[in-house]
Amino acid sequence: MKTLLKNCQTLNGLKNILIIDDKIGYIGNELASYDKIIDIGGLWVIPGIIDPHVHVRDLQQSEKEDWNSCSNAAINGGISTIFDMPNTIPATTNLANLNLKRKVAGKTLINKLFYLGATNQNANEIEEMLSENPHDIAGIKIFLAGTSSNDVLEKNKIEEIFEIAKKYDKVVAVHTELQSCLDKWRDKISEKTIQNHNILRNRECAINGTKLVLDMAQEIGNKLYICHVSTLEEIELIADAKTKNTNIFCEVTPHHLFLDETILAKCGNFGKINPPLRTRADNIALMKAIENGTIDTIGTDHAPHTLAEKKQIYAKAPSGFPGLETVLPLLLNAVNNGKISIEKIVELTSFNVAKIFNLPNRGKIEAGYFADLTIIDIAEKWEIDSLKFHSKAKYSPFDGMDVCGKVKLIFVNGKKIYCRERR
Ligand code: DOR
Ligand code: ZN
Ligand code: ZN
Repeated sequence: MKTLLKNCQTLNGLKNILIIDDKIGYIGNELASYDKIIDIGGLWVIPGIIDPHVHVRDLQQSEKEDWNSCSNAAINGGISTIFDMPNTIPATTNLANLNLKRKVAGKTLINKLFYLGATNQNANEIEEMLSENPHDIAGIKIFLAGTSSNDVLEKNKIEEIFEIAKKYDKVVAVHTELQSCLDKWRDKISEKTIQNHNILRNRECAINGTKLVLDMAQEIGNKLYICHVSTLEEIELIADAKTKNTNIFCEVTPHHLFLDETILAKCGNFGKINPPLRTRADNIALMKAIENGTIDTIGTDHAPHTLAEKKQIYAKAPSGFPGLETVLPLLLNAVNNGKISIEKIVELTSFNVAKIFNLPNRGKIEAGYFADLTIIDIAEKWEIDSLKFHSKAKYSPFDGMDVCGKVKLIFVNGKKIYCRERR
């Protein structure tokens, strides 16, 4: 089947893109022969977004999100590939659990890869899973702080995992807030309120954890990917480490880029996330780090919980909120505000992710690459309404925000899907 997309605004100007089955067959100015033609009408066509940080849930937490709702949320957010985090129930820490996850992820249209979760006991199992060279493993995830369902890793275990990752040329992704530091601050600050979340989970904890793993990766030489960098100080550490080590990569989330802690007075626990929303000065440092190339990728850290859970008091409400359906509108809005270029968005949301995590033939619009394409109207104005999300988590700290830029259509492996809000 040959589908010709006519009048596509690309980074190289107005082009026609020919899709042959699941791949891009041609991109240029000719009217190649086709079975079907779609006039894109000059809308922007960018590579399908690859989100390297998603908590899909499902299995024993399907009330929060399942693969179906998560895929729909991704697709309607313009995202064609997601990397699923391992802190699920059961956790992705052995082959049996990985296979359960593979099965439940099943036939969802989206491309999916899974992180393996490191525990203090499962180095052998991780090695066993990697030794089969599976194409659907994104890398290994390490938490230096506890969430509801993961181990906090001991230092020698982190080193062991780094060695294994190096042997199999896999990325180690790290949540760097240090549990011992979080415990210290929890004892120190008596007033446990959402407004104090950024003090309680103090920036010192993320900074110290980031420093720890940067030093270890420098010793061992594995690929290290720092998740959701949130502070100016981490940016400085990472920028410095990158001058000595080309295997260091890092991610920023839209919420750490565009929101600061002052919004918590308005949105309460809907803005409770780890690491916490920081300060305006951090937002500015992160944007600067995007411009100068210190930040490599944007990950949503889509972390759905039920509304009932989020409505509990601060101490009980779980951390995390959905992000799949807001990431691209927020970035396009930033393009319209002159804060970021479309070239940079493509680099951060697809090209760099495919390169760092070794995804063959994805992350670019080029003949021979998979036809993962996101079509956007950069000029459409609308208001973010979380009640219309496809995710089961229908709340967001971005709720009610006016944005300019909307996802219209997506192709995943050549299959066309129209993007719509739910009603
Ligand atoms: O806020 C967060 N939520 N941070 C994490 O590291 C985990 C995540 C979750 O799984 O809910
Ligand atoms: Zn995290
Ligand atoms: Zn996460």
